Amino acid sequence: MPDTFDLVVIGGGPGGYNCAIRAAQLGMNVACVETRATLGGTCLNVGCIPSKALLHATEIYQSANTIFPKLGVMAEDVKVDLAAMMKHKDASVEGLTKGIEFLFKKNGVTHISGHGKLLAPGRVEVTATDGLSRVLEADHVVIASGSEVMGLAGIEIDEERIVSSTGALALKKVPDHMVVVGGGVIGLELGSVWRRLGSKVTVVEFLDAITPGLDAEISKQFQRTLKKQGFVFKLGSKVTAVEKKKNALSVSVEPAKGGAGQEIACDVVLVAIGRKPFTQGLGLEDVGVVVTPRGFIPTEEFQTNIEGIYAIGDVTHGPMLAHKAEDEGMAAAEMIAGTAGHVNYDVIPSVIYTHPEVATVGKTEEELKEAGIAYKVGKFPFTANARARVNLDTEGFVKILADAETDRVLGVHMIGPEVGNMIGEAAIAMEFGASAEDIARTCHAHPTLTETIRQAALGVDDRIMQM
Ligand code: FAD
Ligand code: NAI
Repeated sequence: MPDTFDLVVIGGGPGGYNCAIRAAQLGMNVACVETRATLGGTCLNVGCIPSKALLHATEIYQSANTIFPKLGVMAEDVKVDLAAMMKHKDASVEGLTKGIEFLFKKNGVTHISGHGKLLAPGRVEVTATDGLSRVLEADHVVIASGSEVMGLAGIEIDEERIVSSTGALALKKVPDHMVVVGGGVIGLELGSVWRRLGSKVTVVEFLDAITPGLDAEISKQFQRTLKKQGFVFKLGSKVTAVEKKKNALSVSVEPAKGGAGQEIACDVVLVAIGRKPFTQGLGLEDVGVVVTPRGFIPTEEFQTNIEGIYAIGDVTHGPMLAHKAEDEGMAAAEMIAGTAGHVNYDVIPSVIYTHPEVATVGKTEEELKEAGIAYKVGKFPFTANARARVNLDTEGFVKILADAETDRVLGVHMIGPEVGNMIGEAAIAMEFGASAEDIARTCHAHPTLTETIRQAALGVDDRIMQM
């Protein structure tokens, strides 16, 4: 006898677990199927959470050696205990994944351990690790199977010397030299972790700039800052092979547009050239769910081409971000329940958790130019912000782009201290359709880093007061 539910969610990551909880809140009988032993998906197990644990710990270590003495805090002989740092990271992951178990129990979501496969619309077979299988029946099935690491042709990831982000989060020793393939978010965050711990880090990026898609002015400043910190960049370059020697790796790097190559010796290579949707073993072809040539499941209002089967998060279009998956999970549950559900794709913030941080929301200058939209720019540097100055943390700036005619905020781009927390203000302003004048007239507490946003908003109308 199959078990019956109103909704079966395949995948227990930020998309799946939030969808399951929201649906249960709305009165549905929900099951969430997850292959991994723990809930939380890529984000909690091998993504957002472990990477931020290491970024935070290593940033404090670096500050102890650089900023602390300037503040009169003499933390002499500060050492790293890598095993203890990793233990903290693992404990954080364990605590948070158990937290999702708790939330499932609290909301009455049934957690089913095993691999989910669609047999037909409304029928999902779940095979547990012991090989036993059962069939679930549901009116609705949400696919939230996430994404996986994109490999580099001819280069085998062993997760010890040639690693993906997963291996880079669990190295047992600090590499002497790490070569990072891909100057995107993962490469720069995890490159920062190991550089702070003492590695030389060389980033090989195919394009002529790092972090494609970021506002170009922010990207340029970001690269300059990372270079000052010791990152070595080989832009417009590609890795064609990695030869494993007994005690070293030899990386073949060539100019992307052709020409003479070079060999770089290192002990760890991190492959971080993007992620791809994960749909293996889901049975999509058997039930006729369409996928794009790049493997994504296209949807309209979260529904696939098959009625009653939905897709959310990394496995479908849009940015591969945990909070985007979460938003889609909530909205899909609400729509399935027959209430209003909505995701505003124009206001999805994005943060790179390096130091300084990078945080953006909305349109970049390049996108506005391409769309032929006239805009005004307001900019304010952290060097002129009182709080940043007393903290000795003044690198970066805030830039606000507003419609030239209506003054409506179209994009906010920041590089600087704690901007990852500050971007929430910009997102709320944009959700409410704020003008730059609205932000400029909002009282901001003094002395805070957020005053930088107000001054940048004043700058849109050319009336910055504090510089
Ligand atoms: P996932 O989190 O990938 O979850 C999918 C789950 O489905 C997995 O647990 C998988 O085991 C399960 N599954 C797949 N197929 C089946 C099946 N057939 N049956 C049962 N279960 C199945 N994003 C941010 O917003 N902020 C960050 O700071 C951030 N940092 C990151 C750092 C790293 C190193 C990485 C790799 C990613 C990071 N991301 C970050 C991206 C973020 O992790 C993803 O966008 C997010 O996890 C996507 O959520 P999801 O629910 O769509 O998929
Ligand atoms: P990415 O898309 O951010 O960056 C990949 C980089 O590799 C790009 O700059 C690309 O031009 C380059 N590249 C591609 N092929 C190459 C090649 N053959 N040789 C050299 N360079 C090459 O992907 P990344 O960093 O792997 O991250 C994957 C996803 O995870 C991202 O979509 C991101 O959204 C998400 N993520 C988010 C984080 C956050 O929000 N803070 C942190 C980490 C990951």
